[in-house]
Amino acid sequence: MKDMENLNPPAVLDEIERASAEMGFTMASDRQTGSILRTLAAAKSGAFLELGTGTGISTCWILEGMDASSTLVSVENDEKVQAVARQHLGGDRRLTLKNMDGEAFLRSVREQRFDFIFADTWPGKFYALEEALSLLRPGGLYIIDDLLPQPNWPEGHAPKVAELIATLERHERLVLTKLCWSSGLIIATRVDRA
Ligand SMILES: C[S@@+](CC[C@H](N)C(=O)[O-])C[C@H]1O[C@@H](n2cnc3c(N)ncnc32)[C@H](O)[C@@H]1O
Repeated sequence: MKDMENLNPPAVLDEIERASAEMGFTMASDRQTGSILRTLAAAKSGAFLELGTGTGISTCWILEGMDASSTLVSVENDEKVQAVARQHLGGDRRLTLKNMDGEAFLRSVREQRFDFIFADTWPGKFYALEEALSLLRPGGLYIIDDLLPQPNWPEGHAPKVAELIATLERHERLVLTKLCWSSGLIIATRVDRA
């Protein structure tokens, strides 16, 4: 089996990747992660949340897995990069693009619940983690990537990643799997057991 063969990516992906390269955006998720996001999205129905739209690369994979009645809110604080997602994906009525700080967003939706969260930025991952996890419905998925050393990691990032992994492993409301594949993923499911 070769995991990069026959990925069948979303039709719009090439264009978004080209626009991302032109603007020098280097933080996008890779195609393996895109593929697993699409597969997991297809297993859920309801409210989806992405923290860190970037240029919309992971967004387009998630949208392709989602059913017609599901909705996705994607949050990004850099208007310029999110404009690429808006241009290529803005016509999808299931998608709401929010140009705002991720932590402020998490605080603004305390009463809402989500079935799927892809946390691909600082808030909801390296801080305001509990704020994000508390928004998950029981059975909801929390997904993060970039957990294996990456060339664009800032100095001093490795211990923060180790601490994040340990926090998730200890979390009483999560069952999780660590994948040393692609950029390094954790897929966690919220459980509300007594
Ligand atoms: C890893 S990139 C997202 C990549 C995108 N999900 C993908 O797979 O192509 C992280 C993004 O988070 C954004 N960001 C950084 N700090 C943020 C914050 N406090 N709130 C919202 N977005 C933030 C950055 O501008 C960047 O586009």
